[in-house]
Amino acid sequence: METKNIGLRGIEVADTKVSNIDGEKGKLIYRGYDILDLTKNSTYEETAYLLLHDNLPTKQQLDEFKTKLKEARFIPKQMQINMGNWRKDADPMDMLQAFVSALAGYYDEEFSSKESSYDKAINLISKTATIIASWNRIRNGLEIIDPDPSLDHAGNFLYMMFGEKPDPEIEKIFDICLILHAEHTFNASTFIARQVASTRAHMYSAASAAIGALSGELHGGANYEVMRMLLDIGDIEKVEPWIKEKMEKGERIMGMGHAVYKTYDPRAQVLKELSRKLAEKTGEPWYKITEKVETTTISEMKKLKGKDIYPNVDLYSASLYYMLKIPMDLNTPIFAISRVVGWAAHIIEEKFAEAAPKTALYRPKAVYVGKYCGPEGCEYKTLDLRK
Ligand SMILES: CC(C)(COP(=O)(O)OP(=O)(O)OC[C@H]1O[C@@H](n2cnc3c(N)ncnc32)[C@H](O)[C@@H]1OP(=O)(O)O)[C@@H](O)C(=O)NCCC(=O)NCCS
Repeated sequence: METKNIGLRGIEVADTKVSNIDGEKGKLIYRGYDILDLTKNSTYEETAYLLLHDNLPTKQQLDEFKTKLKEARFIPKQMQINMGNWRKDADPMDMLQAFVSALAGYYDEEFSSKESSYDKAINLISKTATIIASWNRIRNGLEIIDPDPSLDHAGNFLYMMFGEKPDPEIEKIFDICLILHAEHTFNASTFIARQVASTRAHMYSAASAAIGALSGELHGGANYEVMRMLLDIGDIEKVEPWIKEKMEKGERIMGMGHAVYKTYDPRAQVLKELSRKLAEKTGEPWYKITEKVETTTISEMKKLKGKDIYPNVDLYSASLYYMLKIPMDLNTPIFAISRVVGWAAHIIEEKFAEAAPKTALYRPKAVYVGKYCGPEGCEYKTLDLRK
């Protein structure tokens, strides 16, 4: 008998008010608002408030929220020292997972009121960015840069990474990237965050589990793999043979395909345009190479499997970050810097939803296909009797 529901595809497991995807129409909605409107009109901070609170903030609410985010940017000195003791070539996602988890050792992890969870969410959002920027300085033997309260979230992160206030156009592009990555319903990392929260573990623990899930190449890790692919291809003339060879061998092309979107991922649309603009500004070849990867994969997929395939969020974000001079191995951590607000919104919803009776400790059923020696079980043989 075939196991049903492998990978839980299409299985409804909880109610949510945080976001919705229409995979057929290619729409992504955060708390009722279309992502395309948010990228045109909003900022990461405003979007973060919306995701956490279910409505757009008034001016006063936004000012207070931004002030709290700025105040939460510092990480403890001891944490910086501990980071300095890590191997400098450690994977930044492993480092991020460990230090987000460690936040519980410095801050109150009490998680019993909805109000106090908002402060924890703010702590997480601000400190995740600081941890990554600080780690990038530490591993390169550079001084950590203190946050700048005159800068917003996107600009401050770039400043803490590079030590210079960013060009406003670059800051805006990065802010849009953060809005686009902030939330995406029950993707692997968000589901993990909710699963951990459903056990009543605290928010730092749930977020650190989500970071582990995000690190895999079939999830957030794909944007790093996309950039490796682009560098390996190196030249627009080489795209076709490279993609054909991989696809004929049955390998997956990173940045293409999606478990939910059956049409163009709306985030990829925006990122494609940003990548095109940035390539025009910098004169780099990566946009054109990426576009050729897209068209070649689409035509090969049609030829080999008769199926449609579209770019996902990772295809164009990889070259975009590369052109922003962000080290490749920080592509996935930057995804985390943004997605942390989505995780926090879901963790709070899982724990405090008005629909509380509809959430429960997750406990799916496994189908046992292991050893079977009859109803009494297998006979235990002591070590000397085993061959
Ligand atoms: C995201 C992903 C895991 C979704 O996979 P999925 O839900 O299993 O996709 P589907 O079931 O619709 O795949 C249908 C077919 O397309 C193929 N396919 C899907 N994505 C592909 C890709 N990126 N490259 C080549 N073939 C791909 C599958 O192998 C499958 O072939 P089969 O029917 O012969 O088995 C998959 O598209 C993938 O691995 N993409 C690359 C990794 C990536 O970019 N991840 C980031 C996601 S945001």
